Amino acid sequence: MTDKPRILLTTPWPRRAIEAMREHFDLDVHEGPLPMPEDRWLDALQAYDGIAPTVIDRLPPQAYETVQNRTKVLGNFGVGYNHIDIAAAKSGGLGVSNTPGVLTDATADQAMGLLLAAARGISRGDWHIRAGEWRGWNPIDLLGTHVTGATLGIIGFGRIGQAMAKRAHFGFDMPVVFHNRSRIDPKVTAALGARQLDSIEAVLGASDFVSLHCPGGGENRHLINATRLAAMKPTAFLINTARGDVVDETAMAEALRTGQIAGAGLDVFEDEPKVHPDLTSLKNCVLNPHLGSATEATRTEMGLLVMANLQAFFKGDPMPNAVA
Ligand code: DGY
Repeated sequence: MTDKPRILLTTPWPRRAIEAMREHFDLDVHEGPLPMPEDRWLDALQAYDGIAPTVIDRLPPQAYETVQNRTKVLGNFGVGYNHIDIAAAKSGGLGVSNTPGVLTDATADQAMGLLLAAARGISRGDWHIRAGEWRGWNPIDLLGTHVTGATLGIIGFGRIGQAMAKRAHFGFDMPVVFHNRSRIDPKVTAALGARQLDSIEAVLGASDFVSLHCPGGGENRHLINATRLAAMKPTAFLINTARGDVVDETAMAEALRTGQIAGAGLDVFEDEPKVHPDLTSLKNCVLNPHLGSATEATRTEMGLLVMANLQAFFKGDPMPNAVA
């Protein structure tokens, strides 16, 4: 027996973060099928003081019934928490934290990588060679789209959106326009060579590349729908490292198939790990399996930040990254 709080991770974490967690908590790691099945959730809610879920978890409604449950806190391993019903957590008195900041650079790097890969055929060229199709250099094969100096449009100008703007402005001389629900401090905007526009449509119409950095779920579901895809230039590319449900995937697949937009770089999907079947056969999109924060260093930092939040919670202090 131990008097450390009992914590369950719903999926394994990087080793260094697990070792750190074991110093402070009586820790178990769910090693079975993913996402963690509902019956395991129901048992866990009675057996653990806290649970650390991830984006793939499907929480049962009982998760929010803190009076009946031993579990009083969720330390979410991730910045996005659209898989958690925050209103239910607040009304049930369930503490919830997330991991902002530590994955900003990794995610912006991945978004820029997808932009380059989609525009310059980096992934397509790789497959060209593997398929044995390369017959040697010539001036007209696999021509891509010029990136340096092209206009980048950003939807959602929080930490990751701003980190993307920084890469585009300082690294690629790209003029940046963006849409954000609240007004961004003009000093921040000016330092990134960016311009805030009043509507999403204005950003879509002005951009050669559109990168999504807003939260998923709620009113952002299908924010990019058929009408908004039609507002993009036919030469433009859509980059999504935010959440799959921000885009109507069927409408996007159609826009890619018909050439209504030129291409896409996608890290997230509406019904992960399923991917719309049309996307997997289209050559003008680059597909990644939700790798935005996937570096050893970043995933370790995410685990350590979950730990800091849970430590605060069990000390009775405010969690530094509380979202409920
Ligand atoms: C995040 O942190 O939101 C990543 O998408 C993984 O959940």
